[in-house]
Amino acid sequence: MAIEWKEDLAIGVAQVDDQHKELFKRVSDLFDACTAGKGKEEIVKVVKYLEDYVVVHFSEEEELQRQYSYPEYNNHKQQHDKFVSDFFALKAKLQYEGPTATIIIQLNHTLVNWLINHIRKSDKALGIYLKQKGIV
Ligand SMILES: [Fe+2]
Repeated sequence: MAIEWKEDLAIGVAQVDDQHKELFKRVSDLFDACTAGKGKEEIVKVVKYLEDYVVVHFSEEEELQRQYSYPEYNNHKQQHDKFVSDFFALKAKLQYEGPTATIIIQLNHTLVNWLINHIRKSDKALGIYLKQKGIV
């Protein structure tokens, strides 16, 4: 189950696009660890590595929105918060049960689908707003 950043996911803000690429790489590392049958300990490490990056990335994206008075800020932040809480629930499950087939499927659904949908709709809308304002 590969997750790959492709050009059509670009929102036109270099800082955000670079972070999305890194995010995809870390999600991909987590899948690799799960499907390669790595032990729980290793998986917990990779989850933590992804989690740290998610927190940094979302807060920088939100900061950018506040800085430029983005009108969709509240809605956008709610989406980030929902992702974080879903991710935490999965993290707890992974820690407890290890990478079962069910969890890997859920992981794929929660992380990959959410990320791609979010970037395609919400982050692209942000990119358009910043462009219209002449910021990027
Ligand atoms: Fe976002």
